Amino acid sequence: MNGLDGRASGSASGYNYSDANKKSGLTWSEATFLEYIKDPRAKIQGTKMIFPGIKSETEAKALWAYLKQFRPDGKKK
Ligand code: HEM
Repeated sequence: MNGLDGRASGSASGYNYSDANKKSGLTWSEATFLEYIKDPRAKIQGTKMIFPGIKSETEAKALWAYLKQFRPDGKKK
């Protein structure tokens, strides 16, 4: 998840993503993340992330606020 803010989906080096994730055309931002995380398999059909999602928008926003702090190297911005 490091460096997620502004990254194209399925593009972190060294991880073998599904084609669905690589081809979703999404760039991660608060807006795309909030849509995705409430129901990942609806937003990216065919993803191998089998997770029902976070239904609380308050929790999802707190999660994004946490995740966006980190650069690709894992250090805080
Ligand atoms: C709150 C919890 C979670 C968050 C915030 C989260 C977030 C994300 C995000 C943003 C991506 C896309 C990454 C990218 O495009 O670079 C992703 C992918 C993925 N996640 Fe999650 N995830 C969560 C829980 C889980 C759980 C519980 C699992 C497994 C049991 C999981 C397995 C995966 C897998 C396998 C992928 C790659 C999907 C693919 O290539 O189709 N995630 N996750």
